[in-house]
Amino acid sequence: MTENNSINFQREPLLTETEIKVRMAEMVLEIARDLQHEELTVIGILRGSFMFMADLVRLLYVNDIHPLIDFVFVTSYEGTESTGHLNLLRDMSLDVKDRKVLIVDDILDTGRTLKFTKEYIIEREAMEVSTCVLLDKPSRRTVPINADYVGFSINDVFVVGYGLDYNGRYRDLPYLGVIDCVEVE
Ligand code: XMP
Repeated sequence: MTENNSINFQREPLLTETEIKVRMAEMVLEIARDLQHEELTVIGILRGSFMFMADLVRLLYVNDIHPLIDFVFVTSYEGTESTGHLNLLRDMSLDVKDRKVLIVDDILDTGRTLKFTKEYIIEREAMEVSTCVLLDKPSRRTVPINADYVGFSINDVFVVGYGLDYNGRYRDLPYLGVIDCVEVE
């Protein structure tokens, strides 16, 4: 399926809406089991986590967990390449000092964004920091970090949809698709 004149989508979704929903329900049970009786603050990393985070907190609600919610805006990517240079474009509003924090991101790739954000929240004196990502690309890791909760481990492909973008587009897709980055007429 050709979506515009600069990229190609692979025809089949990498992960369908149903597959995402089923896996997320399992993940949230794990999170609820570990954090049920805790006063939790959930911090999403913008922009890619927004859709995943929205569904995640609705599932936490079903499991009787009602966290405080905030976001940081961290960026490092241009197109399909990480610039390697991280910027905190927007800080949290909440004070996380002495709080249990769950960081939520869309995808763990080189690991720089999650490591940067985790260290930042630890510096803000959070009591305990856990991490949760929808997708993990372990083969791309350049810094030593793993997430505590992982939805799917995937190969080194560039994915869009369900909050993830290519140059700002395709975040709206309700499923995850793979792009080939092929220039077309
Ligand atoms: P790092 O390399 O810091 O990257 O672990 C995490 C951030 O990079 C973005 N990213 C992607 N975005 N499709 C995307 O739309 C991808 O395949 C992809 N891989 C990495 C993403 O913003 C993530 O927060």
